[in-house]
This record gives sequence, C-alpha cells and structure tokens, in this order.
Amino acid sequence: MSDRPALRLSRLLHGADYYPEQWPADVWAEDLRLMDEVRMNSTTLGVFAWTELEREEGKYRFDWLDDVFELINSNGKRIILATPSAAPPAWMSRAYPEILRTGPDRVRRLHGNRVNFCWTSPVYREKVRSINEQLAKRYGHHPALMLWHVSNEYGGECFCELCAQAFREWLKARFEGNLEAMNQAHWTRFWSHRYTDWSQIDIPGNPYGETANQGLSLEFKRFTTDQIVAFYRAEVGALRKHNASVPVTTNLMGFYGGLDPWKLAPYLDVVGWDSYPQFRDQPIDVRGWAKAALTHDLTRSLGGGKPWLLMECSPSSSNWYPVMNLKPPGMHLFETLQAVAHGSDSVLYFQWRQSRGGQEKFHGAVVATGQDNTSRVFSDVSQTGSALDSLSAVAGSTTTSDVAILYDWDNAWAIDGACGPVQGNKRYFETILDQYVPFWEAGISVDVISQECEFGQYRLVLAPMLYLLRDGTAERMRQFVEGGGVLLTTYMTAWADEHDLTFAGGIFSPLAELFGIRVEELDALYPEQKPCVVLPRGSHFGVEGAFEVLGFAERIHVLDAEVVGSYGKFWYGEEPAITRRFVGKGEAIYVGARLGHDFNEPFLNSLAASLNLRRNYDAPTPAGVTVQRRVGRESEFLFLMNAADKQAHLAPPERPAVEILSGKPVSHGITLPPYGVAVLRLE
Ligand code: GLA
Ligand code: ZN
Repeated sequence: MSDRPALRLSRLLHGADYYPEQWPADVWAEDLRLMDEVRMNSTTLGVFAWTELEREEGKYRFDWLDDVFELINSNGKRIILATPSAAPPAWMSRAYPEILRTGPDRVRRLHGNRVNFCWTSPVYREKVRSINEQLAKRYGHHPALMLWHVSNEYGGECFCELCAQAFREWLKARFEGNLEAMNQAHWTRFWSHRYTDWSQIDIPGNPYGETANQGLSLEFKRFTTDQIVAFYRAEVGALRKHNASVPVTTNLMGFYGGLDPWKLAPYLDVVGWDSYPQFRDQPIDVRGWAKAALTHDLTRSLGGGKPWLLMECSPSSSNWYPVMNLKPPGMHLFETLQAVAHGSDSVLYFQWRQSRGGQEKFHGAVVATGQDNTSRVFSDVSQTGSALDSLSAVAGSTTTSDVAILYDWDNAWAIDGACGPVQGNKRYFETILDQYVPFWEAGISVDVISQECEFGQYRLVLAPMLYLLRDGTAERMRQFVEGGGVLLTTYMTAWADEHDLTFAGGIFSPLAELFGIRVEELDALYPEQKPCVVLPRGSHFGVEGAFEVLGFAERIHVLDAEVVGSYGKFWYGEEPAITRRFVGKGEAIYVGARLGHDFNEPFLNSLAASLNLRRNYDAPTPAGVTVQRRVGRESEFLFLMNAADKQAHLAPPERPAVEILSGKPVSHGITLPPYGVAVLRLE
C-alpha cells in the first residue's frame, strides 16, 4: 500500500464543518472573513448535502458548490469534501424503499434522520456511486481539494432481508460451505439450535428471536463491519475513478462498538475521529481527560503512529448532549492542544455556523446564531487558531511508544454478549482505562492495539481481560515474551476461542504454560464481599500493602511461577493472586483480581521504572500533569498539560528548550495554571 496517496501538511489544520447551503451567498463572504480572524485554513463541505446537489433523480446542481469552491480557493483555504451518503434525499427513499434501514424488530424505518440506510442494498450503492462519481469528476482535480471525507460516522446495523441474505452468504464463505463446521463452531446441539440448511439462518438480535447463540451474534457484528468496509470501499472506488491521488478518510468514533476500526483502517489514507469528551466532574476531571487521551492514542495507533486528524470537536460546550455544559476559560485550548499532543495534525470543529433549525440548532458553533466575533467562544477558537499557527513545525511529527494496551473489538463483543460472570457491564473498557491512567500521568506514551497487531516493537504489552483469544495469539505472546517482552494479563483472559467456544482445556489453558499457572475459577463478588490482595513488605515491584478486590477474583494454582501477591481476609486463604514468570528474555505477569487505582498506580509505575521505560519528561511531574511527545524530522516537541485543578510547577528539562506558544526560552521552571499547556521544542 506504499503507493497510497498521503496527506502532506506543512502546517496544522484549523477548520470546521461548513454548511454554506443553509445560508444565502452574502453570508458566505462574512463567513470567510470571520474564518480568517480565527486563522482557519481548511473547511469541510458537503456533509449531508445530497438533496442540495440532486433535488431530482439524476438532475445535479453544482453551481452553488462551484461558487463556494471558488470563494474558498481564492481565499487561500483548502477543502475537505464529503460524500453525501450519510443522508439520502426523501425522493430516493420514496422511489426505492429498499435503501432504508430495517431495525432488529424487522420493521423498515421510514425516511428521515440520518445514517438510516441499508449497507447491502444494491440500489443504494448504485446511487452513492453515481453522486460520488459526479463529485469526483467535478472537483477531483480542483486545486483547493485536499482530502475526501467519505460519508459521516458510519455506524449501526441493518436487519433487512437483503442483509440477512448477505449474512448467510458471508457465513457460507466463512465456513467454506460446511454447515456442519458452523454448527460445531456455534455449539448448536445446545437447545436444539442446529441449522440443517443455510436458508434457516436469520440475523440474530431481535428480542423476539434468536439472542442466545453467542457465536452467531459475534459473527453478525463481524459481518456488519465487513459490510461497512465494503460500502466504504465502493464509495472510494467511485471517487478514485477521476483522480486517484487525492487521499481519502472517514470520521471514526473512537471506541464506538458498532464497527471494528482495525478492519477499516488499512483503507484510510489518514485516520481521524470525532471527539466530544464528556465531563461529569467540572471544572476538572483527570480521568475524563485521560479517557480522551486514550482515544487519541487509539486513533494514532490505527494509523500506525502517523499523524491523524481531529475531524470534529465542539467549539463551545464540552458536550452538547445530554447536557450543554459550557467549557470554562482555558478548557478549549487544553482540549484542542491535547489532541495535537497525542498526534493530531488538525483541529476541526463541528460546526462553523449554528443552524437556525434542525436537531442541532443549539449545538456549539464557532459562530452562534446572533453572535459575531465578539463572543467568548469566538475568542477561544481564535486562541486555538493562533496556537496552531505557532505550532506549524509540529505538523508531520510522530510518536513511538514502548508500551501498548490491547483493546480488541472481537473481545469486547464477546465479553458484552457473555451470560456471566456477571450480567450487564463487565467493565472491559473501564479496565483498559484503569491501566492507561498511570502511564498517562507518568508521561509515558502508550499505543492502543488489537490482538492482531505486532507485539514485537513494544517492551511492555498490557492485555487485560482478553477473554477471546484468536488462533495464534497465544503463540505470538509466547514469542514476544521469549524475545524479551513483558506481558501483563488479568482475570477473565483466554476463556474462549474466536467462535466464543470455551477452550477444551479450561479457562486460561492456552496461556497456562507461558504464565506458569492454572486458573481454576472466577469468583464474581457482591459489593459487600471484599477480599484483598496482599503484597508483603519487600515484595517484587516494591509495592506493599493490602489492596481491596473490586468484584472479580480468580482462584489459581501455581505450576511454575513466582507469587507476587496473595489473597487475604477471605475464605480463599492465602492463595496466590498475582504471579510473575521469567521466560526467555522476558516476563509474563498475571493479576488475578480486579484492583483499583491504589494498586494500579504504584504497581504499573514500578513496573515502568524496572523496565526503564522512556518517560517523556525527565523531571518529576505533579499529579494531574501529563507530558506527551512528538518527534519531527528536525525537532522534538513536548506537550506539558495540567489537567488538575491547581497550579503546577515543573523543573526545566535537562536539554535547552523554547516554549513555543510564548516564544520564550525555558530557563527556570515551568508553571502551569489549571488547564495550562506549554509546548517545548527541545534544542
Ligand atoms: C457527530 C456528527 C456531526 C454532529 C455532531 C454533534 O459527530 O458527525 O454531524 O451531529 O455529532 O455533536
Ligand atoms: Zn439491509
């Protein structure tokens, strides 16, 4: 894929989703003038513009878009042009009802809303192909066009008969036409669920239908991802017909569960996502910022460490829904530079100008209805614009990490679908975040990977709750550890194979030898049941004390491993809870109980120190302050960010540095107010 087009930027992008079609042309000139004031250099056009481009079937009207292109081009800004597939016109739904999405209740949805289309419908694919080709023909060579923004936030499932048929074909291909193999993989002797003909298979997930075949439910999630990828690739095929050198992307949604982004990422020329962090603990919520950081790191990792795009964020409220809570002073700059710190080469907003009607008329915008350049939000955005200007040398710089946290979509789906060890949320994502926070606070860069990624480039891989272990993962883990890697895993790991069939040798059996333990059973605890894990004085990792277990505890037997911590205060007696085993040049660490931040923080910090993992800042950083690093061809940049609610002081770095936002050399220490950000260029 080396001949793929790339987005080459000489400066960071500052831009917004722009909907000129909602306004008369005299507003456009005013818009461009105001965009200059906030130092915008990019605009995103055409998201949801289908009906304005094709009011009647096959009758295209591009004059207004031609004018906007010219206006923006003459103003020296670049354009990201969207394909309009996220919202088909009403005439199309009337003429071709099959394009509409069908819900799990098997009721076809009526026209309206958005992303309300079927992934499979040949008619819809054809209509999308036509409009995309028209756009590509007309604008594919336009000098202002910088990037295609394919559709908008692909997501959701369709349960129509076309999709059901495609699902059957997909299964048939997956099991190479062997129905018996599928029955075996899905254990269909249970409850008489055997299929004797492919045609009997229906999409699972209807509350009145099949919900108890977890293997089949998992396949439907995978199928939906494959349909979305195929849909995306068909869109791109149409765009590439006229000019294959314009890069393409679509806006992802972080940890959104309806699409495995690792399957789409190979087809994106640049990866991007829409970030709307929600903060419950205003004014400052350290864990909330860490969650945003984790998602930025996921996005960067999806693109192999290359710069990515922050494709949407809100210029005003921290989130418009369910609560339109305003960003206090300083927060906007912090939020936008945080994305840059984690590898984004852009800050793009939803949206430029607030609409006067429609569902999002109260959503944050750079220009709110009735407001102009004197608003607080406008000056916040302008501050980000100036900062991005001064940071233009950061464009193109990258990040490498010694540590990876493994979050896997197949695994998340299987855990969600499992009837046990507790019903409801098993807290897989929260567990990932729990393990991420100590590294984020210590200023150690982290990648977020899937189980199909390479492990070899990392010193430490954290793979908590990896319930679903694909064929080959155990072997790759063994090679990683033998080669010198440190692998940490936890309770609820290696229970089931890729079909969600439990391992014949019992839970954890594929990893038993590597970790030198046998896992016998998991205890799901009621809140009032509180065993603890005790690490004795002088224990490995230098962590000692009793740590309360939060809900999950596994009972294990040591075969060939050192015991680091044992249970206490419970009927398990002093059975082992945390173990380590040195294997080859590396180490396999197992944490058998869910423990809190009181344990994770010292334990992971001490692990990081023992491995000599590279910290982004050489001086100590106060609690709530993180430092992220980007490395360019000529310079190295450190982003120092204070997410705590009090002023923080840091000693200067060992190497001479200039603080870019102020342009001043760093001589003494650095003081960061709450939400304060400093960006150092190391000399
Ligand atoms: C998403 C969409 C936008 C807009 C915003 C609102 O990210 O892509 O069109 O609806 O949400 O926050
Ligand atoms: Zn469908």
